[in-house]
Amino acid sequence: MRGSRITGTGGRLPDKVVTNHDLATRMDTDDEWIRSRTGIEERRIGGTTTEHAVEASRLALERAGVDAADLDLVILATTTPDRAVPGTSPGVALALGARCGAIDINAACSGWVYGLVMAHAMIGSGMERILVAGAETLSRITDWEDRTTAILVADGGGAAVVEATDGPGDLLGWDLAADGDTEKYLFAEMGGYLEMNGKEVFRHAVSLMADSSERALAQAGLSADDVDVVIPHQANIRIIEACCKRLGVPPEKAVITLHFMGNTSAATVPFTLDHAVAEGRLSDGDVILFSGFGAGMTAASAVMRWSGPTTG
Ligand code: UT7
Repeated sequence: MRGSRITGTGGRLPDKVVTNHDLATRMDTDDEWIRSRTGIEERRIGGTTTEHAVEASRLALERAGVDAADLDLVILATTTPDRAVPGTSPGVALALGARCGAIDINAACSGWVYGLVMAHAMIGSGMERILVAGAETLSRITDWEDRTTAILVADGGGAAVVEATDGPGDLLGWDLAADGDTEKYLFAEMGGYLEMNGKEVFRHAVSLMADSSERALAQAGLSADDVDVVIPHQANIRIIEACCKRLGVPPEKAVITLHFMGNTSAATVPFTLDHAVAEGRLSDGDVILFSGFGAGMTAASAVMRWSGPTTG
């Protein structure tokens, strides 16, 4: 049997910090409203999707001790490619020195978890080493006069190297979901800005993420009591807390980064994983639940028994 495991992680945020107070100078909002309704205190804005993907991936490769030339595939999850055509991943692969296939995937904020599951499947089919990155420049598709979306979004990247291992590997269970009926609640037309019905997204997000997590745990033969650490999509602290409550997982088991990075869509889960490693939150043998939801609406969850890095 041939399994997969994560051997290196990396994260990258742009330098420019935009606080809630900064936003309050350009739209009708305030720090107290944004903090209490979302948990976000500041976010990072700037750069390109390619830059964020490349920088996060370089760190992940270095920490995994993998030469980019030895990669078998580069998967880049993004909703904000740098151009319409071609995809952003071939340029990322070139900048890294990879000489393999490269593909963009768009499953919105669930994209990186989709990529992780796809990497596992490709490794099961014979590949050895796959880079799974998530990177975004949501600031480019945001109307900075629209307080309903501008307070939430941000830019950045995260990445992980997934490698083949003898035996079953670390991925114990997973779930991928999509409900096109709810795509009307969160979308951007070609060349347009993000449009969102926040209340509907919130309502569906909690059930999508909790149901997807439950299916992944069931596939792994585990229950919520077995979960040691949750690495959730970072959209709103209230969504994460409500999801943990529905699952029956204590909220302090969830790793939170949204207070300083906002919502970077497909980048939040890999960035938060890297942050958890750097903060020493993961121990060998921990059961980790990755779970994301996003436009589509999509959801994706993965349950891993961690044997990856435990210090940054
Ligand atoms: O990756 C997925 C991305 N999206 C999400 O996850 C978004 C999910 N939804 C949410 O996070 C929340 O729905 C929001 C944070 C977007 C909004 O929070 P809410 O508690 O659902 O607020 P609301 O839309 O019900 O608005 C409450 C009030 C309204 O005023 P009235 O009608 O009560 O007078 C809004 O007009 O707050 C007002 N409001 C604001 N006030 C200050 C809406 N946006 C703002 C704002 N600043 N930015």
